[in-house]
Amino acid sequence: MKLGRMNHVGYAVPSMADAVAHWRDVMGATSVSDEIILEEQGLKVVFVDTPTDSGMNGTQIELIEELTPGQTALTGFLAKNPLGGQHHVCFEVPDIDAARAEFERLGKRILGPTRIVAHGTPIFFVHPKDMQGMLTEIMESPKAAH
Ligand code: CO
Repeated sequence: MKLGRMNHVGYAVPSMADAVAHWRDVMGATSVSDEIILEEQGLKVVFVDTPTDSGMNGTQIELIEELTPGQTALTGFLAKNPLGGQHHVCFEVPDIDAARAEFERLGKRILGPTRIVAHGTPIFFVHPKDMQGMLTEIMESPKAAH
């Protein structure tokens, strides 16, 4: 496996409005994306980029809320974590197909197909029980800076 940089941390949030207010008002985030609606997944996503003084991209936080409560991939997590919390962590790889093949060779359980969702670049998820308890998103490195 050729590991790249950590791309983002995903947080499940019970209220997007409260979460965005928290990141703006408490954490001082100045870069907050518009809401992205993922109709098929029944989810809403907002990206927060932490500021840096150097002008380089900071670290990305992905806030995820259910559009259709009780019927999404977040439902179980939010039932166990009613305040929300860290849901997954995402690492970049240079070649998504090669990474997938390597996880498969190692017997790691991959959740669903490789797909392009909110990030505009292919991703897949690896089961937390095979990843030291951490739901892990693997993403092909974006070609251009965002
Ligand atoms: Co993610």
